[in-house]
Amino acid sequence: KRVAVLISGRGSNMSALIGAAMDPSYPAEIVAVLSNKPDAGGLATAARYGIPAEGVDQRLFLDRAAHERALIERLDAYRPDIICLAGYMRLLTPLFVGHYAGRMINIHPSLLPLFPGLHTHERVLEAGMRIHGCTVHFVTDDMDEGPIIAQAAITVERGDTPDNLANRLLRAEHRLYPHALRLVADGTVRQDGGRAVIAESRG
Ligand code: GRF
Repeated sequence: KRVAVLISGRGSNMSALIGAAMDPSYPAEIVAVLSNKPDAGGLATAARYGIPAEGVDQRLFLDRAAHERALIERLDAYRPDIICLAGYMRLLTPLFVGHYAGRMINIHPSLLPLFPGLHTHERVLEAGMRIHGCTVHFVTDDMDEGPIIAQAAITVERGDTPDNLANRLLRAEHRLYPHALRLVADGTVRQDGGRAVIAESRG
């Protein structure tokens, strides 16, 4: 399967996906990396791996819809089967979500449906949670609400700060995302409306 990755920053999850896809037996290849930020560090990383990497600067567009149309045009030039959002920090409208319905996934740094939105590490500590985690889900019109594909949990340690909790979680994210993308790319899990369905064992 041909996979395009969308980033806004350093792209450490993107790097984990690139690393996993280097295994010739992995059922996906990363064919392009795009960002809404032309200076996103992950673009340089992707280019070093020889992967086409483009910034589509949101500031150059009149509104969100115009930016999304440009993004779709650039993305579809690579004929992606699956879109992976990885640290992509811009809300997507139904126009974009609809265009990639059923084949766009995202990683969120919490155990959804708990803690959708931003600053999840602070909020987990504030709530006194003893565990934290990350979720890969299909993207739907509602932010951080789509059908869950896979999750990983970590423990919250005494004295944890948001920063070291986030860093410990990133290590789990870098294992979870390649695992979740494999499930989607090899057809084990697919989106059926509001549900993530495990495909019947194929005999
Ligand atoms: C990660 O915590 C990820 O879960 C969230 O954005 C953060 C940065 O990700 N979506 P990355 O290092 O840019 O992949």
